[in-house]
Amino acid sequence: MPDNVLYYGDNLDILRRHVADESVDLIYLDPPFNSNQAYNVIFAEENGSGSGAQIQAFDDTWHWTMETAELFHQTVETGGVRVAEALCAFRNMLGDTDMMAYLANMAPRLVELHRVLKPTGSIYLHCDPTASHYLKVLMDAIFGAERFQREVIWRIGWVSGFKTQARNWIRNHDVLLFYTRSSEFTFNKPLIPYREGYTRRDGSKPTGKGIPVEDTWNCHPEDVSPSGAPLDSIMIKSFSGEKLGYPTQKPEALLERIISASSNEGDVVLDPFCGCGTTVVVAQRLGRRWIGIDITHLAVNLMKFRLRDTFGEEITAQYEVIGEPTDVAGATELAHQDRYQFELWALGLVGARHAGTGRGADRGIDGVLHFHEPAGGSPTREIVLSVKSGHVTPAYVRDLRGVVEREEAAIGVLITLEEPSQKMREEAASAGFWSPAHNPELRFPRIQILTIEELLAGRGIDCPYLRHGTATFRRAPRDRRPEAETGKLIEE
Ligand SMILES: C[S@@+](CC[C@H](N)C(=O)[O-])C[C@H]1O[C@@H](n2cnc3c(N)ncnc32)[C@H](O)[C@@H]1O
Repeated sequence: MPDNVLYYGDNLDILRRHVADESVDLIYLDPPFNSNQAYNVIFAEENGSGSGAQIQAFDDTWHWTMETAELFHQTVETGGVRVAEALCAFRNMLGDTDMMAYLANMAPRLVELHRVLKPTGSIYLHCDPTASHYLKVLMDAIFGAERFQREVIWRIGWVSGFKTQARNWIRNHDVLLFYTRSSEFTFNKPLIPYREGYTRRDGSKPTGKGIPVEDTWNCHPEDVSPSGAPLDSIMIKSFSGEKLGYPTQKPEALLERIISASSNEGDVVLDPFCGCGTTVVVAQRLGRRWIGIDITHLAVNLMKFRLRDTFGEEITAQYEVIGEPTDVAGATELAHQDRYQFELWALGLVGARHAGTGRGADRGIDGVLHFHEPAGGSPTREIVLSVKSGHVTPAYVRDLRGVVEREEAAIGVLITLEEPSQKMREEAASAGFWSPAHNPELRFPRIQILTIEELLAGRGIDCPYLRHGTATFRRAPRDRRPEAETGKLIEE
């Protein structure tokens, strides 16, 4: 089994079933914050215009439900005395509110994270001021107040919303609660080396090797080596180069700082809420082993593409994906559990993106892909996709053909879980072919039917101009060092 694993699923279940006791060196988690927002991915078109297509990536709105109550009971009964006391005290104070629902959901996950952390391990819980005070009490109850190391303030370089209109102070920081499992833990203090020949003002030689990076705005730039480039490297330049369009994506430089300080090469890094995979990409680059978990196929697909775009095709042999359907039976089960996740997963098999809740849904399209013809001004062409997990009939093929004609798309693809009938194949064949403008002799079926079984066996859309995986999100740049951070780290 490869050293690195990407899991699709609920992290509580994955941690309990797959991650052994005391097996992880470093955990970074960036859970939804309970800020009552639904995070949408809004896509840009290939030509740069905003398409308005958007789909919900995840939601951080929490409500007290039967499931939450069950989790609360379970954790109070089995999570340990201090956790039970903390949770009951919260419930007395908060009642069955959304905040209580959030804490009841976080508590069992934090208990599991404590279990899987090695005795020398560290955990960074990234949160915002909405819930950080409650989470700190919960972390004290689970890890022990004596295992609290630092509250690191990450100053957000930009502030969303209306800075000048808000009748309040600007909210511009997140909080990282840093705890360890014991008093013995890895910490490679990031230092900016002094410049050669540096002496203190009284002429004496410095005793240390350099200045802590988080303290560099207190020092004179000339005191430290140019290679350390302290001030520039911690100031915000831009993070847009690595932005993939996933909401709440964190900058690689932030994760690079945490992973280099709190783990060594070969160590295991775990991110149980890994979103578009910032932690796993940085862990890979720094020679750590990694485990990523996310509950949406949108995130898992994006991570797969990000890893491949960053490290090349070779990376696929270095990690395993667990939790995704690998056969028709698994795909059928996913379709029964959650049709939306099935659609996301099926579209990911051909590198297409979900058409979203905007124009796509109105047009009767589930997914889209774009490509460019290699000659004749490289016009942008569209492929429209329809995904069916239930019974299919020739009427679906006719409808898709109508959509292709109406939208002037090049090709229409019907992805189906069920085997298509002969009549459906005939209907598809009667739609004829699409030919590229630069070479009318080339012909590709205008309507293509692909079964899940065929896709799992490696078949793809018959169109040579597709660059697999480029349509879902912006591409990650090929393995490069992060340019800069969007925030400064300040130890409090
Ligand atoms: C704030 S985002 C993380 C962003 C990430 N740090 C990055 O740089 O892309 C939170 C992620 O947690 C995932 N998530 C929410 N609940 C989850 C659960 N129970 N198990 C696993 N993942 C979950 C969401 O799908 C979302 O991608």
